[in-house]
Amino acid sequence: MNNIDWQKCVLCDDSRNVIKRIPDNSIDFIFTDPPYNIGKYSTGNIALPGRSPINNDVADWDKIDFYPEEWIDDFVRILKPNGNLFIFTSYNQIGRWYNGLDARFDTTNFMIWHKTNPVPKIFKAGFLNSCEMIFTCWNKCHTWNFISQAEMHNFFESPICMRPERLPNPKHPAQKPIALLKKIITIASNPGDIIFDPFMGVGSIGVAAVTLKRRFIGVDINHRYYYAAKQRIETEISKNVIINENIRVIEEPNPNYNINRICVDESSGVSDIEIFNKVFASKIKFE
Ligand SMILES: C[S@@+](CC[C@H](N)C(=O)[O-])C[C@H]1O[C@@H](n2cnc3c(N)ncnc32)[C@H](O)[C@@H]1O
Repeated sequence: MNNIDWQKCVLCDDSRNVIKRIPDNSIDFIFTDPPYNIGKYSTGNIALPGRSPINNDVADWDKIDFYPEEWIDDFVRILKPNGNLFIFTSYNQIGRWYNGLDARFDTTNFMIWHKTNPVPKIFKAGFLNSCEMIFTCWNKCHTWNFISQAEMHNFFESPICMRPERLPNPKHPAQKPIALLKKIITIASNPGDIIFDPFMGVGSIGVAAVTLKRRFIGVDINHRYYYAAKQRIETEISKNVIINENIRVIEEPNPNYNINRICVDESSGVSDIEIFNKVFASKIKFE
């Protein structure tokens, strides 16, 4: 480790800017959930007489064209040789991830997340959209914590996020369930590892990461999602996770932020931006 210790570093920025500042071979696990660009395939809301419509709204960020090819070189560059790369994706983009990444790793594969409570198909004219894909990449000797034959199927079932886990404000249409994320993080990383999510939304991967004593770097371009992610992750840290004895939750008013607790390293008093500057601006290696 370098001369600061830290548990999370969450930033509000375009992650194109952030990733360029991350040193080569420094991330243990890139685990991320980028836009799927499925908005163009949506048929919009479905009106139901006397009931609220079935909501097919797709977020504005999903309507912006997303090019996996723009991220591939940096993902490969920043990942440690024994690291893992897991990307949530959809049928319309998995081929692009495969084309860009398959030749650059010893193994590429995929997982399925089966949602047990998908939106019903009112007009019964097709399949329910009950599956999401996770594209996976690694090299020989990668970090891998095999649980048991029964638990290592590349198929995971759970409901989509519901209250109380689902945030009411801001609502994030792609909020992922913590149970799924925790299982993947347990398998593909070790305590103390650095997990990077350049599309963190409301920070679900970060919450799962700090719960399992991993370190987390997350970025979202949207201020509301960023603040929600920061709050969720800091709340989780304040509950039970102290990796390093110097890291404590202290009461400190923050005018930009809706809660009064921030997590700092008491020995140096570093904030997320300072962590960012120290870790990324310098050429310090992580280990
Ligand atoms: C699929 S969502 C992630 C949801 C997240 N897994 C969760 O559980 O909340 C993708 C996120 O990427 C963000 N995003 C899109 N383009 C971005 C960019 N260039 N830099 C940073 N964030 C970006 C969007 O604001 C959106 O919140």
